[in-house]
Amino acid sequence: MIKATIAELPKYVDKEVKVGAWIANKRSSGKIAFLQLRDGSGFVQGVIVKSDVEEEVFQTAKAITQESSVYVTGTVQKDERSPFGYELLVSNVELIHASTDYPITPKEHGTEFLMDNRHLWLRSKRQHAVMKVRNEIIRATYEFFNENGFSKVDPPILTGSAPEGTTELFATKYFDEDAYLSQSGQLYMEAAAMALGKVFSFGPTFRAEKSKTRRHLIEFWMIEPEMAFVEFEENLEVQEQYVSYVVQSVLKNCQLELKTLGRDVSKLEKITAPFPRISYDDAITFLHEKGFDDIEWGDDFGSPHETAIAESFDKPVFITHYPTKIKPFYMQPHPEREDVVLCADLIAPEGYGEIIGGSERIHDMDLLSKRVEEHQLDPETYKWYLELRQYGSVPHSGFGLGLERTVAWITGVEHVRETIPFPRLLNRLYP
Ligand code: 4AD
Ligand code: MG
Repeated sequence: MIKATIAELPKYVDKEVKVGAWIANKRSSGKIAFLQLRDGSGFVQGVIVKSDVEEEVFQTAKAITQESSVYVTGTVQKDERSPFGYELLVSNVELIHASTDYPITPKEHGTEFLMDNRHLWLRSKRQHAVMKVRNEIIRATYEFFNENGFSKVDPPILTGSAPEGTTELFATKYFDEDAYLSQSGQLYMEAAAMALGKVFSFGPTFRAEKSKTRRHLIEFWMIEPEMAFVEFEENLEVQEQYVSYVVQSVLKNCQLELKTLGRDVSKLEKITAPFPRISYDDAITFLHEKGFDDIEWGDDFGSPHETAIAESFDKPVFITHYPTKIKPFYMQPHPEREDVVLCADLIAPEGYGEIIGGSERIHDMDLLSKRVEEHQLDPETYKWYLELRQYGSVPHSGFGLGLERTVAWITGVEHVRETIPFPRLLNRLYP
């Protein structure tokens, strides 16, 4: 007997296989039963015809409860009507474990209830599809950077520094010292770029932000590339190549998942490099023309502003050259202007907001020391970071892509809480 996963079934048309699965759902009449089977690799319908099987098997199938675990034996058949394209004509069902009173039924449930049951909600078809797309984005990320000469480097999670400002830090004790959970691995990635040239990291980051929006998590995963001898415009080119690669990989390898999610793939098919660029100055003028009187030069953009700008394009858009005073201390100034820096945020289409923040980094020791002072950072803590400018300093650039916002955009789900297995949100640490 061949033991197969659901994803492998297309290889076994007209053959008999044994599949370990859970019962996602069930329908039955006097003569036929339909079992919606799931095994993690996919979903398939099992059909049991009473007249074709032992009476005991049909009775087991009829009585089976949602989320019970089973071994099912059956013949793989092509089925043009199902999105998967195959079904299983079942000859035997062996019950492994009977589930009772599974809380998530096919009826509608409220979000808080589903979030309280996140450990079970992950089993649903929609959540399964989101996690599969997340996985494909991670896979394509490694592939892209590996194929383009980057080395993966893992920065520490427990740190003494605060690259993105000191207000949103998770403080903890490091024996007798004060430490913080990493907000961004960037500063360490700069050190790594001086050792390995082109590097990227992928890891969890933490922001003690009291924000309760559909774009904010307390713990999120970030991909942070950093490149020696790469200047501002070249950095944008890497970003548009990378983001296009990821979207095209999902389109190629997650067709079924995108269908399950009801994603409009025609919007994703347009995501190819290059992406448009608009300067912060022009963005302000544009917003004033659109009637946003609430924003002035020097203000940071809020979600409505970002969404209004993104709506003019059907690709992600770079907003470049933000005011120096609203950006972190490490950004390289514009060569002709003191008031703006060589940075860009990448804004996703369809209202998903900023998915990337990046910049060229200051490589002049004196200027960086001055910035550390201006931002009231402890020079002792940043001593090692400053030293990178002391021994063969070079122009270098990098960026950080927020994984969950990117998953939300590509899958079309409304809220980032559905894009990470166990979201850490304001007031939610369970489950
Ligand atoms: O713009 P941010 O804060 O940039 C940095 O941390 C840089 N040090 C990155 C770098 O240059 N290496 O964050 C980068 C991205 C944002 O564009 C967004 O996608 C995501 O991280 N992000 C969040 N995602 C979910 N919840 C939050 N609270 C997030 N904060 C930032
Ligand atoms: Mg940012």
